[in-house]
Amino acid sequence: MTTARILAISGSLRAASHNTALLRAAQTLAPAGVTVDIYDGLGEIPPYHQDLDTPVLRPPVVQDLRDRITAADGLLIATPEYNYSIPGVLKNALDWASTDWTRTEGVPLLRKPVAIAGAGPSQFGSVRAQLALRQVFLCTDSDLVVKPEVIVFRSHERFDASGQLVDETTRDLLQDLLGALLAKAEAPAEARALMATAT
Ligand code: FNR
Repeated sequence: MTTARILAISGSLRAASHNTALLRAAQTLAPAGVTVDIYDGLGEIPPYHQDLDTPVLRPPVVQDLRDRITAADGLLIATPEYNYSIPGVLKNALDWASTDWTRTEGVPLLRKPVAIAGAGPSQFGSVRAQLALRQVFLCTDSDLVVKPEVIVFRSHERFDASGQLVDETTRDLLQDLLGALLAKAEAPAEARALMATAT
């Protein structure tokens, strides 16, 4: 049986967020042995400050996020679209997880298996934001799931009044995405280690 820990991050801080609801649906769709933990500290992450980005000076809440990403077997990100791109709070958190200036810690996002999804009320879902997010993970050399793309458009029609994901097509896509992420997360650690040194 697969055992894996997935860290899930929503790019929305909104209480009734469809993207956070998508991650809750992923929790219910995960196979036995796979834990999907939804990170709830995004709103507490301070603006990125390179002078503080060292093991000694880094704010504890940032260090905690880095440690959680490092410890996770994979990341599942659900992002809304703000002004045709990703929300600042999400990009800010990823910036804090993309560095190792002292060359003593390792970069949390390097070669980390990552899957992207997103929801939005427009006909386009969050497609522009997801393309922008893919570009970020290209830079961090994360191990990004390419397909399936989970672009939840007219998101208000996919959830019921209690925020449950009821749209069958979206549930199926989300399940496939989880499967693709787990396939990467199960890649032998040795192979991943080789790839990490290859960069
Ligand atoms: C938006 N929204 C939006 N939607 C879209 O399709 N393209 C866009 O460029 C934007 N821009 C935008 C900017 C800002 C500042 C806000 C707050 C919102 C709408 C947005 O996608 C919508 O509020 C989603 O529902 C947000 O996702 P959650 O909060 O439901 O997860």
